[in-house]
Parts: sequence; structure tokens; C-alpha cells
Amino acid sequence: MAQDSVLLRAVSHWREDAAGWLSGSFDRLPETVRVNPLRADSDWTEGWLEGIGSQRITWFSGPGSAWALPFERGSAQGDVKAVLIALHETGRLTRQEASSMLPVLALGAGPGHVVLDMCASPGSKTTQIAEHLGQSGLVLANEVVNSRVNMLVTNVQRHGSSSVAVIHHDGRHLPRVPESGFDRIIVDAPCTGSGTTGKNPDVWGKWLPSGGRSLHDLQVALLSKAVALIKPGGRVVYSTCSLDPVEDEAVVAEVLRCSDAMNLLAASPLLAGVPAEEGRSDWPNLDDSGELSVEEVPKSMLPPSEPAIVEQLARCMRVWNDSIGGGGFFLAVLEKSADAPQRPVPEIQSFLSPEDVKPDARNAPQPLPESIASSVESVWGTLPDGLWVRGKRLLLSTPEAQEVWESERSRRGGRTRIPGGRWRPLRVMHLGLSAALLRDGEFDRIVAGAARELGPRLPGASCEVDGALIDSLLEEGDASIDEGGGLEGVRGGRILIDSQNGDCVPVWVGGRISLMLGKAERLLLSLQRGLTFNQNEGE
Ligand SMILES: C[S@@+](CC[C@H](N)C(=O)[O-])C[C@H]1O[C@@H](n2cnc3c(N)ncnc32)[C@H](O)[C@@H]1O
Repeated sequence: MAQDSVLLRAVSHWREDAAGWLSGSFDRLPETVRVNPLRADSDWTEGWLEGIGSQRITWFSGPGSAWALPFERGSAQGDVKAVLIALHETGRLTRQEASSMLPVLALGAGPGHVVLDMCASPGSKTTQIAEHLGQSGLVLANEVVNSRVNMLVTNVQRHGSSSVAVIHHDGRHLPRVPESGFDRIIVDAPCTGSGTTGKNPDVWGKWLPSGGRSLHDLQVALLSKAVALIKPGGRVVYSTCSLDPVEDEAVVAEVLRCSDAMNLLAASPLLAGVPAEEGRSDWPNLDDSGELSVEEVPKSMLPPSEPAIVEQLARCMRVWNDSIGGGGFFLAVLEKSADAPQRPVPEIQSFLSPEDVKPDARNAPQPLPESIASSVESVWGTLPDGLWVRGKRLLLSTPEAQEVWESERSRRGGRTRIPGGRWRPLRVMHLGLSAALLRDGEFDRIVAGAARELGPRLPGASCEVDGALIDSLLEEGDASIDEGGGLEGVRGGRILIDSQNGDCVPVWVGGRISLMLGKAERLLLSLQRGLTFNQNEGE
């Protein structure tokens, strides 16, 4: 099918050696993963990957690391499969196609930045950005499709960073919150996926040039919105997993045409060592048999005629499947000039008071009300900054989330001022690290995945113990109070901290001390501590 595909015919118009591309686009891809550097045990994870014969991806410029596993996607077996699943479920690893890691490496996001991930689900780039922020700053991860918002929330929760908020909008109509704009924006646009044949063999039979043309206007609209929302001096990365210039360079050219303030940065110095080709400034118009067409198409889909744009397009980057040994990919890095004029400030016609504005939806995260704050403080002995509540969950986020929530905003192009102290008009579906659970409005217990982050910060909720107790809990699931060394008289949820190496495990202290760790965490901690763990024993 691949030999006779329209896609192969199209590729033969885009590069000389289409057969070379075909040979590298057909095989299933190796499994590739990113190691989450925000986890204290990331060295152990890297050692385990090395031990099973994985190869470091040398062009990956971290933080963290990226690896190609010694088998194809989805074909791990036995114990390796069990550990891989556990590493993924606990957010220590993210499965991600290697070339899909490139846009975030080119984005240059860092601690304290407020970043928009405009088309975010399933969230592999969102979590990668969070790793660059290092638990400070904020990523607003946006997705328009309902079911894909849920998938995004699940993946972000598993990753366990405190710097992500999931929002639910059509990217073309995102409200301007924060009003000052974003430091960085990534537009990983919906596309035809012509570079994904290794992962999605269906593409061979389905791909048509008209598919790219039907997405072009949406892609231009999304990137144009990003240009409107980026701060002066800020950077936007536009990317697709399509090789089709109509979805790639033509979109970038149209946006450059409409905005004097934007320039392309050369992508290749930002991505040293990545085997890639420059962007192109010329491409043919193709019909749905993959042959040259003389039918008229809108100007924005055609090669640009403006010399300044023609010259700049070479700064884009196209990664062919056969050169990288993975998925085909395109990216462009745009920068707004630092002296770009600020948006004209319209005459303000009205100021709304907090009572005039609809409150946030009931399921949006809110700062802790006093009653919950005092219940939490009485148990934890302190109240960490950045706590929020959503339903029965206590969430931990960053100062930048608080700043966005507090910031004033506007409506009607700036003519109506709206006070902060709300997310609205943002629709926030999730925020930060899921830290603890509430029952009847009172603190109930710490979520296992947050134990390592919270344990050392909560003197009232944690106890240092001898490592032997933690070993015994991991092996047996519970222990008698006598073994607890200092836990006599304690009741309820606690985090035990190993006095030798700082490992943290959540327990419930009642008649006995019971381990409150899920199977995946228990398996990994047991392996790290050189213990045997019977996987069939359950939680
Ligand atoms: C290429 S995927 C994003 C992959 C994601 N960035 C990642 O790395 O995991 C494009 C996403 O854009 C979403 N999308 C499509 N139209 C959109 C729109 N108008 N606004 C926001 N998201 C949109 C799609 O539902 C899809 O989830």
C-alpha cells in the first residue's frame, strides 16, 4: 500500500530521494521515553533504562533525559513490561515519539515563565514544558475536544507537576488571561499526520493533499492567536507532525505576512545535533492523486512571493523520518520583537465590581476557604503556600497560578475592566499537584504520589523512622505499632521519612501501621531498595 500511496507520490515532489524516505518511514518505531527530572529518583530510572539496553537520545538537551528502548513500541515483555508500566503510571517516565520532543527544546521555557500550550492533549509537550519550569511558573494547557481534555487531565495528574493548569477552549478564541500575555507559546497544531506513518500505518491509505488544505485555515488562525497573545520579546513555536508545506511553511508565511512584529529564529542552532533540513520556500500545488495541479488555491497556501518571507522560511526545520529514525516533523520558532507596540489601550467604559461578575464554575479550583485551611494546618503543623481546593481534592500549585487568578482582566476589547480573584473567563479543569483528599470539608489524607514532595515540608504530618520499618512495610503491607519506633499514640495519615535516605511513604496509623501506596509505587520503591515484591499481592 505504501508503494502506491498518494503520500509517497506527494513526497516525491517535496524531495529528491522519495525512496529513501519510504525505507525509513515504514518500520514500526522503537519505544522512546522521557525521564521526568522533577522526581528525586530520576537517576535510578535512568540506571534501569540503561540496564535493559536503552540508548540515550544524544540530541535531547534536557532537563531530564530521553531514551530509545531496545524494542518496538508496545512490545515489552515480562518484568521489563511491568516496571515500564509502573514508571509510566507514576509519572517517572513519559512515552513520547522522539521528534515530538523537539518543539519544547526549541521553546526555551524556564523557571517562572507563564506558558501557553495551545493544542495540548494528550499532554506529552505540556509535561515536558513543566519539566523545564521546574515547579515554578505556570503552563496553561489548552484543549478543545471534551474527551481529550479528560485524557490531558489524567496525564498531567500522573506527571505530578505543580505548575500545570488544564483549560478548555477553542484555541482560536482563547480569552486574554493573563492580560499581559505569555512568555512562551507552543502551537502543536492539529494536522494530517503525514509524518506519522511508522506509528499510524492507516495514514498510507488515507492521506490526501486536500486534507492539508482543509486544515490550513485553522492552523493559520491558531498561530495568529498565539501571535496576538505572546508578550513583546516572547517566543512562539509552531509545529506539526506533517511533512506537507501547505500545513507547515505556508502557515508560517501567512502569519509573517500579517504581522510586522514577528520574526523567524533559526531553529537548527536551538536544536544542535538534530538531523534535519531547512524549511523550504517553494512547493507545488498537488491534486488528490499526488500529481501537479493547476487548480486555483487560496494565495496563503502557495509559496510566498515576498523576498523577506522567502529568505526567512529557511530558518524553519523539517525532520524526515529516515534521517531521525522516527516520526517526520516540522517546526518554526517565531519571536515577537521586544519593542513591538503594546496593544492600544481602549477607553475604559465600565469597571465591574466582584459582585457583578459571574463566579467561577463550581468545579473550578479555588483558593482554600478559612475552614479547610485551619483543618489542614491543625494536622500538618503548617500551611504551605499555593494550596487550592477542587471538590474533595486539595491541590498544590505555584505563585504564578495565584498571580494569574488575582490579575485584573477585561472584556469588549478592553473597554470593560473585570476584577481578578477568579479564573473566569478561563475555564480551568485542573490545577497543579493532587496533594490530599478531604472528607466532609476536613482534611482526610495525603495522596500517595505527593508524599515525596510534601513529606519534608510538613513537620506535623511526617515522622522520621528507621529504614527497616519502611522495608518491612513494603514487604508485608503493614507492621505492628511496636515496630514503629515513636509512632505510639499517633493515629491517622502520616508520611514516614527514611532517616537514612529520605524515601517517603504514606501510611495509616490505627491498630497497626498500614502502607498506603499503590501497586506501581510499591513495586518501584521495593526494587530501588533491593527488596523482592510479589506483584500479585495487590495494594
Ligand atoms: C497534534 S495534537 C497535540 C499533541 C500534544 N501537543 C502533545 O504533544 O501531546 C493537536 C490537538 O489539538 C486539538 N485541537 C484541534 N483543534 C483545536 C482548537 N481549535 N483549539 C484547541 N485545540 C485544538 C486536537 O483535539 C488535538 O488534541
